[in-house]
Amino acid sequence: MTTVPRFLAACRKQPVDATPVWFMRQAGRYLPEYRAVRARHGILEICKRPELAAEITATAAERLGVDAAIIFADLLLPVEPMGMKLRFATGEGPLLESPLRDPAAMARLRTDGAGELTFVAEAIRRVNAHFGGRVPVIGFAGAPFTLASYMIEGGGSRHYLHTKSLLYTEPELWNALMEKLCAVLEPYLLSQVDAGAEAIMLFDSWVGCLPLEDYRRSVLPFSRRLVQAVQVRGVPVIHFGTGTAHLLAAMDEAGAEVLGVDWRLPLGQAWGRVGFRPAIQGNLDPVALFAPLPELRRRVDEVLAEAAGRPGHIFNLGHGILPDTPVENVRAVVEMVHEYSAVRREAS
Ligand code: CP3
Repeated sequence: MTTVPRFLAACRKQPVDATPVWFMRQAGRYLPEYRAVRARHGILEICKRPELAAEITATAAERLGVDAAIIFADLLLPVEPMGMKLRFATGEGPLLESPLRDPAAMARLRTDGAGELTFVAEAIRRVNAHFGGRVPVIGFAGAPFTLASYMIEGGGSRHYLHTKSLLYTEPELWNALMEKLCAVLEPYLLSQVDAGAEAIMLFDSWVGCLPLEDYRRSVLPFSRRLVQAVQVRGVPVIHFGTGTAHLLAAMDEAGAEVLGVDWRLPLGQAWGRVGFRPAIQGNLDPVALFAPLPELRRRVDEVLAEAAGRPGHIFNLGHGILPDTPVENVRAVVEMVHEYSAVRREAS
């Protein structure tokens, strides 16, 4: 008999033996193994060398004992084959040269370059070879809005002034840009599925900056298209954003199997806003990982109590692990989640 890994069962709201747990950014800078590789290679170089990306992905998942491994890559990778120049400045995150600010530059964006990102698919194949089905691999991409925000602002942003101005004042240009992003992201995501990704995560990390009606009109249709393209292949989708309490019901209309939520609402309330339809992923505050163990345990238990034993909870943070997070606390959370769910099951 083959058993479905608990992470995949939970994506489908099927019963599990214990709540599955993994962490966004689980392979990042807080891990000494990552820093050791990173001391010798740039972040883009690691992404483009499947043997390095696969090693980092697998090492982090093994070390933590988590139920899923997100492939080591970056949200910004697709901008290069679209014709933009990308670099990572130390401590500053991604920077794009010549941000997209005029119609001519948008018209020049290429949409035929997804095939230049095959190193991600190759890294997925290698991680799968390592785990042999024991730990499912999650592929991912940025959702069109979040990717567009980096392309237009040229990096991270506080107010998304240029992005939102384009969306508010040039709807046709905005839609054309979303179309172009979908044309690249769809084959990119499907190449990850073909390589063996057993779930796909769509990161709309910064979409919470939009008012509800603009989200619905100018973003949701494009995210929905990508969700559906993946679902046709029988692979579940995790749809995530931060600061999205006001958008959850609208995001749910994209139809992903799993909704990823940040820590701002109690998990039960966030889940209630979508009528408990999808599975839910979240939502411990990443800063809780810096707390002494008793406080950390209290907060982990609280998230689990909010899920109330309903099928379809995947334990995660409300956003990525922060640099300097104590590794032993991350491991402790994995144990707490697995133990707690086992105790609950015995009690019920
Ligand atoms: O285990 C994992 O999750 C690692 C794989 C991964 C990375 N980036 C590697 C990375 C994933 C899933 C991402 C996604 C990503 N990248 C997102 C969406 C997730 C989110 O946080 O909302 C976003 C917005 C980006 C863009 C990006 N890349 C930023 C903002 C930064 C800087 C972060 C910082 O803290 O400085 C990066 C760089 C980056 N990508 C790092 C890693 C491990 C750290 C930089 C380094 O090693 O020098």
